Amino acid sequence: MSEFYNKILDNNRKWVADKTLNDPDYFKRLSEGQSPPLLWIGCSDSRVPANEITGTQPGEVFVHRNIANMVIHSDMNLLSVLDYAVNVLKVRHVIVCGHYGCGGVKAAMGNANIGLIDNWIRHIKDVYRFHYEELDAIVDEEKKFDRFVEVNVIEQVMDLAKTSIVQNAWAQGQDLWIHGWVYSLKDGLVKDLNVNFGSNKELPDVYQLNKIL
Ligand code: CO
Repeated sequence: MSEFYNKILDNNRKWVADKTLNDPDYFKRLSEGQSPPLLWIGCSDSRVPANEITGTQPGEVFVHRNIANMVIHSDMNLLSVLDYAVNVLKVRHVIVCGHYGCGGVKAAMGNANIGLIDNWIRHIKDVYRFHYEELDAIVDEEKKFDRFVEVNVIEQVMDLAKTSIVQNAWAQGQDLWIHGWVYSLKDGLVKDLNVNFGSNKELPDVYQLNKIL
């Protein structure tokens, strides 16, 4: 195999020893169930680990990650995670966390034909089209890139709020909040974008689903 491969297996055994040293029932307790208060939707980027950034432990964060932290409402993987988190685990918070320097967002700014992934990147290009007036007005390429990362997160927060899953939960009076964050690879700090959705009333009228009982 490789040195790295052997190292991670070894790391696992050390981690188990460490966790159980002062808490012999650690894994027994975790194996009995989970009730995380948070669903994290983040980028697949290896530098943005949900638990480490938020100082949370196993059992505290339900996680979904994909390229550029996208919420695509026909993505069965995302919808299944969301449905389970909201309707079974009853999470109170959902955080969409993007990050500056995101390769997926960068690709969406360019015109390179990369391959299959172009179809995924196209969803990010749609975000650019919604915000092109603001983004095209930013001359500095780095600043434009940063702002694109931010508006992409805001759009994904809105796309979450538009889902039938989230709107049904709100209609039933569930306490559920959706937030947007951007993580900085340069200093490790999170910027809270202050987009906090707690009801569908904040959505444009055309997206509001009113249950007819
Ligand atoms: Co990324």
